[in-house]
Amino acid sequence: MKTARTCRRFAENQPLNMADMDWLVDCARLAPSAKNAQSLRFTLVGPGETCKKLFSLTKWAGALKDWGGPHEGEQPTAFIAVLMPADAGQLVCFDVGIAAQTMQLAACSRGWGCCMIQSFDHSAASALLHVPTGMKIALLIGFGVAKETRVVVPMPADGAFAYWRDAQGVHYVPKRDLKELVAARY
Ligand SMILES: Cc1cc2nc3c(=O)[nH]c(=O)nc-3n(C[C@H](O)[C@H](O)[C@H](O)COP(=O)(O)O)c2cc1C
Repeated sequence: MKTARTCRRFAENQPLNMADMDWLVDCARLAPSAKNAQSLRFTLVGPGETCKKLFSLTKWAGALKDWGGPHEGEQPTAFIAVLMPADAGQLVCFDVGIAAQTMQLAACSRGWGCCMIQSFDHSAASALLHVPTGMKIALLIGFGVAKETRVVVPMPADGAFAYWRDAQGVHYVPKRDLKELVAARY
């Protein structure tokens, strides 16, 4: 879990491919699902024009005010759009999170990185990916070969949870202490 950090800079010269995306979804396929209904669907975007267009609709690292997102040469080389029924209840949102985290861990196991993205132009992305009627994009995940150092650090005393980067570009992610997370023990 320490190494499975969100990644926002990728080796664009080592693109992932459609078989890689299939493998990630095959991992998510076996993940838990409420009622085992398995109502999520996945749109796979490999390297190419659609990937670039989709990237242009996404927003990266809102907490890094002086960084507008990955530069040319460091952009994701593939995306997976997690689709859910537009009228689905809350339970399906749990499935989305589980599927996304499953794919993140799978990607990490192969040295790839990814970034889950909720901040994107939903209507333009839905049109670009021809999302079927009755479905909507729950989450986009950008993938690539990881090319940034990311480090977990303790939460600062003032509780500021924003991530940051140092002058060398190392990305720091503060995480709350275990003691703070455990609500009770019986
Ligand atoms: C549901 C969800 C939506 C997210 N949306 C975005 C996003 O739109 N853009 C982005 O750069 N990061 C996004 N992130 C990544 C978070 O910023 C990241 O998980 C957080 O900073 C903690 O870093 P870590 O994943 O390395 O623990 C999202 C993460 C989650 C779980």
